[in-house]
Amino acid sequence: MKDVEITLTVNGEKKKVRVSPKESLLHVLRDKLHYISVKANCYRGECGICTVLMNGFPVKSCQVLAVETDDADIVTVEGLSKNGEPSLIQKAFIEKFGFQCGFCTPAFILAGHYIVENMPDATDEEIKEVLNGIVCRCTGYKQIIDAIKLALQWKKEGKS
Ligand code: FES
Ligand code: FES
Repeated sequence: MKDVEITLTVNGEKKKVRVSPKESLLHVLRDKLHYISVKANCYRGECGICTVLMNGFPVKSCQVLAVETDDADIVTVEGLSKNGEPSLIQKAFIEKFGFQCGFCTPAFILAGHYIVENMPDATDEEIKEVLNGIVCRCTGYKQIIDAIKLALQWKKEGKS
């Protein structure tokens, strides 16, 4: 099969890219479009480190074929801050020390952003369900969950 041209929106910007039929969204984002916050590790769907938002939902970008993303809306962690101001979930991760080496942090922040935007009354169990499949090798998950809960609380209080 031949390469095809796809158009996808990344962090609000339209991008046209030529992709091969077997190429992953991870490869396109990191190696062709240089969104290096999207981390690569297992390439097998096991670690979740490559998570991005696709049409609003967290997906493991190594498991999505680039050709499936024609017309899709993709958000990476670079797209969360506005005019240099961190988003609510980013501020909450800083406040609660939700990271150590930072390798997994973009994936957890994007999953957390999904929760904050879509699950205002998420319980601990529901938060864990969304985070399930994203692996952190450094920290306990407690600070990450605490950060997401803080962002949910801030959102209810109208903080931006
Ligand atoms: S690199 Fe995609 S799940 Fe590990
Ligand atoms: S903070 Fe190091 S892998 Fe999660």
